[in-house]
Amino acid sequence: MKNLVILISGRGSNMEAIVRACAHDAWPAKIAAVIANRPDAAGLAFAASHGIATAVVDHRQYPERAAFDAALAQTIDGYAPDLVVLAGFMRVLTEGFVDHYSGRMLNIHPSLLPSFPGLKTHQQALDAGCRVHGATVHFVTSRLDHGPIVAQSAVPVRAGDDAAALAARVLATEHVIYPRAVRWFVEGRVTLDGAHVTLTPPEPQWLFLDDTNAHANTQTAGEGV
Ligand code: GRF
Repeated sequence: MKNLVILISGRGSNMEAIVRACAHDAWPAKIAAVIANRPDAAGLAFAASHGIATAVVDHRQYPERAAFDAALAQTIDGYAPDLVVLAGFMRVLTEGFVDHYSGRMLNIHPSLLPSFPGLKTHQQALDAGCRVHGATVHFVTSRLDHGPIVAQSAVPVRAGDDAAALAARVLATEHVIYPRAVRWFVEGRVTLDGAHVTLTPPEPQWLFLDDTNAHANTQTAGEGV
């Protein structure tokens, strides 16, 4: 049985997808805790209502980033995690913190890394004229939004998309690839080999959202990409 600790900052829909998949598919894992850096993180209520321990380490109480990370690590380690899952956790982490969880901390980023690290990824993709956009599950390294890739999803960028429409399309795929990647880790199938991840036995580490037919039914002809 592996212990998972999930860190959130807000809505927590990825956390929710992982909690539901863990229960539904009876993973050999326990969500030991959901920890937020904001007391008003909406996802805390969902976790508590599912009998999961919750904690808040409020970053505003710590003038120094290192002090916040030390307090956060202490709280996390109280749950003896095999894996720390960053799910919309909006804090830049210190190198010491990242090193402490080396090889056992995953993140999801809403772009096809290495394109568009940082914030406003959907607008960045639109501004760059991308025809394909997506999300990436990766091991966390001290370089922001960078690290060995476990899984990626790709979605079309459609004419008329704004950042919100694109975000919603990407988010739906996040809810598929993140639980999948966490399950692979829980099952002991993920090996880190330098910058690369090997999955044993192999299975597709990608997801291509092809909603062309659904789209054709609802949009005017000729708009396609
Ligand atoms: C997701 O798009 C995730 O990729 C990004 O922040 C968003 C968090 O959403 N890091 P939620 O809190 O999981 O609903």
